[in-house]
Amino acid sequence: MNKDLCDLCKVNLATKVSNPSSGRIQVCDACIIKMRGIQKPKEERVSTLGLPTPSEIKAHLDEYVIEQEDAKKVISVAVYNHYKRIQDSGEGVQLGKSNILMIGPTGSGKTYVCSMLAKALDVPFTIGDATSILSSGGRDIEAMIEKLLAAAGGDPKKAERGIIYIDEIDKLAERYSKTGKRVQQALLKCIEGSIIAGVDTGNILFIVGGAFVDLEFVIADRIGGGHINFEGVMISELIKNVTPGDLKLYGMIPEFVGRVPIYVGLNELNVQALIDILTVPKNALAQQYKKMFAMDDVELEFTIDALAKVAQLAQKLKTGARGLRTIMEDRMREVMFHAPSNKDLQKVTITAEVITDRASPIFDFVYANPDPELAEITPKREKKLIV
Ligand SMILES: Nc1ncnc2c1ncn2[C@@H]1O[C@H](COP(=O)(O)OP(=O)(O)O)[C@@H](O)[C@H]1O
Ligand SMILES: [Mg+2]
Repeated sequence: MNKDLCDLCKVNLATKVSNPSSGRIQVCDACIIKMRGIQKPKEERVSTLGLPTPSEIKAHLDEYVIEQEDAKKVISVAVYNHYKRIQDSGEGVQLGKSNILMIGPTGSGKTYVCSMLAKALDVPFTIGDATSILSSGGRDIEAMIEKLLAAAGGDPKKAERGIIYIDEIDKLAERYSKTGKRVQQALLKCIEGSIIAGVDTGNILFIVGGAFVDLEFVIADRIGGGHINFEGVMISELIKNVTPGDLKLYGMIPEFVGRVPIYVGLNELNVQALIDILTVPKNALAQQYKKMFAMDDVELEFTIDALAKVAQLAQKLKTGARGLRTIMEDRMREVMFHAPSNKDLQKVTITAEVITDRASPIFDFVYANPDPELAEITPKREKKLIV
């Protein structure tokens, strides 16, 4: 190999050495430009540690989670740093862990972000629930660690490098429960590090989340003597102003708050975001129904108006994206009962009226003699006969 010539064209002088890890390729400017034409314009930097970079983790989350940019970013960075920490030899500078507190209304994606995160990770991951820990008087903490241990294939050393998400953490606040403080103390021990179910919990990354309803009033009281109106302010922005003192006033013990130093807010999802959730992600609800119908050789279509109505109704339920499935299941039930038994059915179109008035969908048949059962829920005028 000529030391100075480009390895690709073997004509020009090489100007750049790339991919040192996979055996040094030296290339010339012309070949670099040519490669850029066929490759992505900007190559992602491959992490020197061989770990998924924060942007790779976020890109994975983006495939499933609509909006909530702050949360996706913060979690991606925290997980990346967690990987680094558990790979570290422990010599010299000690890398401390930064547990995360996620604040956002119900159905905004707190649990969802974490469960989608689990799919991308090769560290054990489990989800716990503060309300069940509370009702067990703290005993469920052990169950949660056992679940992590199971996710680690029973290997305590592997479990010690895991990540745990604890849902509904705000329900441990004093305003909700008299025994909440005690459970916070018990959880604190777990987060700080103790041996539970044979697992040293000191290195486990904890992400905790809750709705923290009315936390904005605590902040408003502090900043403006209660005269600040936060209406219309994005939660992700508001949370940037939260102090440990606010959380203490809310009813969390200071030691606990001190152990989850990163705060991130998730916003209430508006109608457009809810429509996106129905249609855009890899496993979007509308796509799931389409797939189920396709398995019976029936094409399923939702009109834009129908999707908008589902989103509007979900917003009225005040349960965030969680309401979408409830509404869909309810409105799709009848047609899902009848459609599979009708061999002539070719296409079902869900219109806005199906959502608002529980009207019949539009059915397209291959033949002129539809199943009498199906005909019952089919207004005659809507039938389009393809013979
Ligand atoms: N931002 C989002 N993007 C996509 N789907 C979402 C989002 N937020 C919520 N969902 C959907 O709504 C469901 C309930 O959300 P969840 O994460 O459990 O809410 P919570 O914030 O109360 O923990 C999820 O399982 C998911 O299907
Ligand atoms: Mg949740």
